[in-house]
Amino acid sequence: MELRKGLEDVAVKETAITYIDGELGRLYYRGYSIFDLAEFSNFEETAYLIWYGKLPNEKELEELRIKLSTNRELPDSIINYIKEVKKDANPMDVLRTAISMLGVEDTDNSDIMEKSIKITSKIPTIISYFYRSRKNLEIIHPDETLSHSENFFYMLNGKKPSEIESKSMDVSLILHMDHEMNASTFACLVVASTLSDIYSSVIAGIAALKGPLHGGANAEALKQFIEIGDKKNVEDYINKRLQSGQRLMGFGHRIYKTYDPRAKIMKEYVKEITKEKGIYNLYEIANAVDEIGIKELGNKGIFPNVDFYSGLMFYSLGFDPDMFPAVFASSRVVGWTAHVVEYLKNNRLIRPKAIYIGEIGRKYLPLEDRQ
Ligand SMILES: CC(C)(COP(=O)(O)OP(=O)(O)OC[C@H]1O[C@@H](n2cnc3c(N)ncnc32)[C@H](O)[C@@H]1OP(=O)(O)O)[C@@H](O)C(=O)NCCC(=O)NCCS
Repeated sequence: MELRKGLEDVAVKETAITYIDGELGRLYYRGYSIFDLAEFSNFEETAYLIWYGKLPNEKELEELRIKLSTNRELPDSIINYIKEVKKDANPMDVLRTAISMLGVEDTDNSDIMEKSIKITSKIPTIISYFYRSRKNLEIIHPDETLSHSENFFYMLNGKKPSEIESKSMDVSLILHMDHEMNASTFACLVVASTLSDIYSSVIAGIAALKGPLHGGANAEALKQFIEIGDKKNVEDYINKRLQSGQRLMGFGHRIYKTYDPRAKIMKEYVKEITKEKGIYNLYEIANAVDEIGIKELGNKGIFPNVDFYSGLMFYSLGFDPDMFPAVFASSRVVGWTAHVVEYLKNNRLIRPKAIYIGEIGRKYLPLEDRQ
């Protein structure tokens, strides 16, 4: 039996959801280029596409919009939990617990798709309520007249987004919505394959995404830009970092061996929004790290990935750095649940093997005879 550490290059399912071309730097959801979706689409429409496999007509889009906007509010028990949980709790722990509580409260018999829409609708509310209550601010209840992205921004910041804020939020969520078979999606599938429920699958996804090797690199990339302080320090910073064997955060990817297309798109929006927010200097630093980093590492196929610019984007939109993985989850939940639905059409319990390297036939000694 062959050992494939990290399950590298092992396929666990066929999929018609997402295709990545790591050599050319292309990403497609259901066959549509991420460049087109980021430019022309929005959260609701791209979520419909990922869940149902086609772009919606007007009626279908309106139906999804209504479901997503009318299911945002949380039960009182969860609002109370969020208000009472310790203020320095990890936002991913709060999100995971709140989704678990939602699972307990959800007693209706609707199908996985309907439950997935409800979960997706509520995640921004959980994140925003926690964000505000830990800062001793009044929570802001959802506004059904706003789109998914606008409402998320509104519940967080207490004001409606500008045009650039609204588009940036939409684009950020579209870019994070799915990425084929990553660790968190696989965690969702392992749980789903036992025929557990969709809340349990999503909780597994959140648990996997919490780890710094998956959802945390964007905060590290942002920290790097803040530490550098001025674009004239970039060259020196990169040299010192690489010479001491440290990695440049937001650079490199297991699949992309060229510029991550999501980073390319994110960069354009970050450039605009940092201008509006008065933190354009951070964009200039990031841009210099991008250019000099490619000069140093590009020949090894190491280029900026989505996390390189997404941290700066989420920061510009008002999120605290420890919340970045939760914002990621608010979008990736669409991909997680779409993959679960796709997998369950042809389910097989996920049960890999381990290669035993221990001893066999050891003699059992009574406690008093052991050293
Ligand atoms: C994402 C990542 C884990 C993918 O790595 P991988 O495909 O498993 O590649 P490896 O970790 O095996 O690294 C291969 C080589 O590239 C180098 N490398 C990879 N990423 C690097 C980075 N960000 N900075 C400097 N060197 C890097 C490694 O040091 C290694 O060099 P060596 O062969 O001389 O030892 C890795 O690029 C990384 O740690 N990046 C920084 C964190 C990050 O941005 N994560 C977000 C990913 S979306």
